[in-house]
Amino acid sequence: MSDALTVDYDGLIPNNVGLNEDARVRKALETWHPGYIDWWKTMGPVGFQDALVYLRTAVGVGAEGWARFDYVKMPEYRWGILLAPQVEGRTIPFGAHKGEAVWQEVPGEYRAMLRRLLVIQGDTEPASVEQQRHLGATAPSQYDLRNLFQVNVEEGRHLWAMVYLLQKYFGRDGREEAEELLRRHSGDPDSPRMLGAFNERTPDWLSFFMFTFFTDRDGKMQLAALAQSGFDPLSRTCRFMLTEEAHHMFVGETGVQRVIQRTCEAMRAAGIDDPTDIERVRALGVIDLPTIQRKVNLHFSLTLDLFGSEISTNAANAFNAGLKGRYREDKLTDDHQLLHDTYPVLRLKDGAIVREDVPALSSLNMRLRDDFVADAAAGVARWNRVLERTEFSTRIRLPHVAFNRRIGEFASVHADTDGNLLDKDAWEARKDSMLPTADDYRFVDSLMRPVQDRGAYAGWIAPPRIGIDNKPGDFEYVKIEE
Ligand SMILES: [Fe+2]
Ligand SMILES: [Fe+2]
Repeated sequence: MSDALTVDYDGLIPNNVGLNEDARVRKALETWHPGYIDWWKTMGPVGFQDALVYLRTAVGVGAEGWARFDYVKMPEYRWGILLAPQVEGRTIPFGAHKGEAVWQEVPGEYRAMLRRLLVIQGDTEPASVEQQRHLGATAPSQYDLRNLFQVNVEEGRHLWAMVYLLQKYFGRDGREEAEELLRRHSGDPDSPRMLGAFNERTPDWLSFFMFTFFTDRDGKMQLAALAQSGFDPLSRTCRFMLTEEAHHMFVGETGVQRVIQRTCEAMRAAGIDDPTDIERVRALGVIDLPTIQRKVNLHFSLTLDLFGSEISTNAANAFNAGLKGRYREDKLTDDHQLLHDTYPVLRLKDGAIVREDVPALSSLNMRLRDDFVADAAAGVARWNRVLERTEFSTRIRLPHVAFNRRIGEFASVHADTDGNLLDKDAWEARKDSMLPTADDYRFVDSLMRPVQDRGAYAGWIAPPRIGIDNKPGDFEYVKIEE
């Protein structure tokens, strides 16, 4: 057994899972590797593949000092297999097997369910890299460019994490799934990614920040639920992925915050008190708050769809089986089996939105979604502090969960951002005030001009307060080839 805290960096694939002693899995991963690199070069970031990027690479899995920062060419990034340390004597924390020793091998009866969970999670990781591949060309600074690439290489590593589990525990089926993960592509009409939000475009940097704020946060919630899994290798994998995921949400949260800050400062400097005076605000070369709000409405609603139907037998089965728990299951104080509990769910009943108590087991998607909304709302509150500080009375707010949905209870109706149901005509008449318009996209796009000089920032975004790895403001985050 290798020591889980030490990462073996000698072979092709850095790992703390003892790949050296596991010839079968090592061979499977080494066989998959060229296809991955090929995918990275053809579907990953456009340009910058030869640039030296100041990236962090995971070199350990302990709480401190797990990452090393250095200049790396992205295709040479050391994508590795890293699992959080095994917890001695860990038992299954929830479901029908609660209290039994965790599984180190896949329980036969749950094989299909577990494989499905891994594939769905795995599919999202490369999808986001594909969605973001064109953004390098318009980065507002070297700092942001570097953050984009950091997110991208780590999503690549998350794909490795899922592929390892598939290849190690699912034999030939797992190898086939690993190939499929490289074959499906975001937005591909013939073989799209599995979930809707991962086939949407990420056309500009505001979209990127919204995506990392909202959609990577869905990732966090899903990983947190899987980190509770009774299948211990999955739990350990997800626990380490969460360490990396925090940075992705940081990029989104501070990104939007810096946009809001720049807009507010520019409005103040120009003596504009009314944030809805869009024409004057845009003339300053900053993004008006109503456009930012519409982007929030869009990305929030797209991300809610990722949680699936409010009432779901799949979710109940995965919980019962001990495969996927709740957010912070280990901190919850109920019986962790939920056979007799209920949970309040917003439902559509006779043309009205009502709250209804339903069996807690079947409403686990709803519960995870509620946890997501609370987590996202805390970030939005931090954005609003910028508005408070600059003494604007408007606030960014999350729309109602019934707004703009494609999946679940509210897929069949139209609702405004306050949750009032609208008929089709009213929706058509009002949707341009609630969702980004073609004009919004055109305007945002007009601001997307690359800024590549050290320490310089595009005029529509404020510089960050501190640099990555505590580097000074003019640090060269990306050595761009002439
Ligand atoms: Fe990820
Ligand atoms: Fe992420």
